[in-house]
Amino acid sequence: MKRRLYSGRDVNRAHSIDDLRAMARRRLPNFCFEYIEGGSEDETTLRRNRDVFSEIAFLPRTLVNVEQRNQSRMLLGQRIASPFMIGPTGYSGLMFREGDVKLASAAAAAGIPFVLSNVSTIALEDVVRRAGGRVWMQVYMYRTREFLAKLAERAKAAGIEALVVTTDSAVFGKREWDLRNYIKPLMLDWRNKFDVLRHPGWMANVLWPGGMPRFANLGDLLPPGQNSVKGATITLGQQLDPSLSWDDIRWLRDLWPHKLIVKGVLGAADALRAAEVGVDGIVLSNHGGRQLDGAVSAMDVLPEVVDEAGGKLSVMLDGGFRRGSDILKAVALGADAVLLGRATTYGLSAGGQPGAERAIQILKTEVDRTLGLLGCSDISALDRSYLRWLGQGVPLSRPPAQTARGPASAVS
Ligand SMILES: Cc1cc2nc3c(=O)[nH]c(=O)nc-3n(C[C@H](O)[C@H](O)[C@H](O)COP(=O)(O)O)c2cc1C
Repeated sequence: MKRRLYSGRDVNRAHSIDDLRAMARRRLPNFCFEYIEGGSEDETTLRRNRDVFSEIAFLPRTLVNVEQRNQSRMLLGQRIASPFMIGPTGYSGLMFREGDVKLASAAAAAGIPFVLSNVSTIALEDVVRRAGGRVWMQVYMYRTREFLAKLAERAKAAGIEALVVTTDSAVFGKREWDLRNYIKPLMLDWRNKFDVLRHPGWMANVLWPGGMPRFANLGDLLPPGQNSVKGATITLGQQLDPSLSWDDIRWLRDLWPHKLIVKGVLGAADALRAAEVGVDGIVLSNHGGRQLDGAVSAMDVLPEVVDEAGGKLSVMLDGGFRRGSDILKAVALGADAVLLGRATTYGLSAGGQPGAERAIQILKTEVDRTLGLLGCSDISALDRSYLRWLGQGVPLSRPPAQTARGPASAVS
């Protein structure tokens, strides 16, 4: 029997991230939904990001007093209210007017950090000022390095807490479901143009009165008057730097005085390189299955990265997290925090800030309930002894006591 998800518009009646996804699908024109949803090529990695969770099962404890439960923990020297944060998603203004501010405000209200994408439509200073809370900023390493230096200066002056350098995008992934919607770059085909007209609510919210939202944090990089999506896309394509190397990270390390995170690591050797060049944390990530198709999921490599490099830097990860139980599986394997991509973008797309808040609330409640069901009252006590890996390979083979930094309770 096909079971139905919630089919209305009240975000508070969404009970899962899947409910919010279905709502986002109804509110957005097809080309926007495909932009969020799509992975690259055959979407093997996109699927792997979800499938990996069903290969890891919980081993709960029973008859444990779980009346009081704690999911807050320390991350990079500060307390976060939940073991997750909102990761960078570009062009959120296309999903909802001022999407970046709405997401940042939802994160601030929940006591978790927000990572502003470099490809965002609200100036970073405005996001920090209007949302309050803890804002990190994601950057790409553009060919014009002076631009990056200037951006870092702006970020420092605005009070951005951490820079997150994305390193998996030296070359763009091939996202065919996205490409199919256009007859040439940025020109929708007729089917999609008609589809846009069938979404007047979205048009009034996003397009009125100024047209397509423009990029607000690429100022010095784009030629004057070229901050339209079209102008920016051409320039950004030219600015992606395939010659990027660890020396560039070292250069950024020298000029950025606060926390520096590298996003796009997928193995222990690179995690160790990151630690060597003085990076404070890494995000294990395959970019939500949007870059190298066929890449492992971050969860696949998390245990070995924690074992090899966990004592040297903070280990975060993303990809496919849709349930509180997914998040706790990562924490039990030794992750310090999880970044959300699509989960909160679905919430934003379904209903602006209340939608993003609902996504966070759903996950927070699920984390709390799962802790209770696991017989674990404090997230800091969660370790690999609560898990059994059902799939191929033996990623859990080392008992927690032999990991580089011991059980999770020692660090949080
Ligand atoms: C619509 C969309 C836009 C994204 N934009 C960026 C971006 O601007 N910078 C970046 O580093 N990662 C970007 N990502 C990747 C996310 O930060 C994250 O790695 C990925 O979404 C995690 O997978 P999940 O969506 O399954 O949670 C984007 C992802 C999506 C879905």
